Amino acid sequence: MKTNSVVTVILGLLLASSAECVPLKNTTLRPGSEDWGYMDVRPGAHMFYWLFTSTAAEDPATLPIIIWLQGGPGAGSTGYGNFKGMGPLDIDLKPRNNSWVHHANVIFLDNPVGAGYSYVDNDEDLATNATGIALDLVSFMKLFYEKYPQFVKTPVYCFSQSYGGKMAAFFGVEMDKAMKAGEIVGNFKGVALGSAWISPIDSTTSWAPYLLQVGILDTRRHNIINKYAAKCRDLVDNKEWTRATQCWSNTEVLISIYGHNIDFYNILKKTSPSDLNEDDLKTFSNNPLGSFYSQDYTICFAHHKHPVTY
Ligand SMILES: *[C@@H]1O[C@H](CO)[C@@H](O)[C@H](O)[C@H]1NC(C)=O
Ligand SMILES: *[C@@H]1O[C@H](CO)[C@@H](O)[C@H](O)[C@H]1NC(C)=O
Ligand SMILES: *[C@@H]1O[C@H](CO)[C@@H](O)[C@H](O)[C@H]1NC(C)=O
Repeated sequence: MKTNSVVTVILGLLLASSAECVPLKNTTLRPGSEDWGYMDVRPGAHMFYWLFTSTAAEDPATLPIIIWLQGGPGAGSTGYGNFKGMGPLDIDLKPRNNSWVHHANVIFLDNPVGAGYSYVDNDEDLATNATGIALDLVSFMKLFYEKYPQFVKTPVYCFSQSYGGKMAAFFGVEMDKAMKAGEIVGNFKGVALGSAWISPIDSTTSWAPYLLQVGILDTRRHNIINKYAAKCRDLVDNKEWTRATQCWSNTEVLISIYGHNIDFYNILKKTSPSDLNEDDLKTFSNNPLGSFYSQDYTICFAHHKHPVTY
């Protein structure tokens, strides 16, 4: 799913850790090392992780752990976040100077099961709601501490982007419950949500007013886009999810064109020019609701080169 905002919200959960734990075995991890594998978070559900220990301390366990959750849902953290984001190597396998591993231990988690290298034995084993996803993450943490007991006291933060923001928030809640119930021993401290896609309709309806305020849209274009966004809200209110999703896409296309290819992730930047221009949208704009789902527009949209990032 698309994201809308450059704002990062950090929610410190201030979770309290409880009882003592007996380490089972220690997997030796030196600074700047890595480990990966599967944790069976439920029968039939196998979660892939890739752990990088920090280069910044002799004993990595003295630095925080950051768990990265990609969005989608369905985008793989071990691919996107790792190679295109802040892993130790970039997509050309060149060392990344500003990698997060220079400051903390980082775990890229392919989440929910079914995403990236994570898999399920049967489709029925896929998580079907955010609580289910969060419980799988709690289960991952239990298994993680069994395998790496040296990290039991290490502060853990879950950082996330886009749909990952939704999953991180639910993860924090379930982790808090599990720690308070004494079901898991750990030091989970908080979650951070970056350009979180936690309420798509609120994001969709706030784009135009925001871009008007910063001078990227004029009033006329703002009004056109807002009319579409209001239609999207009606569709959501009527639980017409498929059409609402199309409506959201259309709103993005309008913003790209009227906003002169504004980058959704950083309004100080532009994306590459689109195939469309305002003339293409004339009919569309003059009769927005009437032509909303027109065949012509669908074809237009298919040609639109808007970058898709998760
Ligand atoms: C990374 O840092 C090194 C050493 O400071 C520097 O030579 C190199 O140009 C940097 N690479 C990038 C991509 O910024
Ligand atoms: C959410 O998923 C969990 C775990 O699969 C399941 O037990 C629960 O019934 C689901 N809740 C809803 C509201 O569907
Ligand atoms: C595991 O590692 C920690 C810290 O590195 C150490 O304090 C502890 O004694 C080790 N436990 C075992 C069972 O080796």
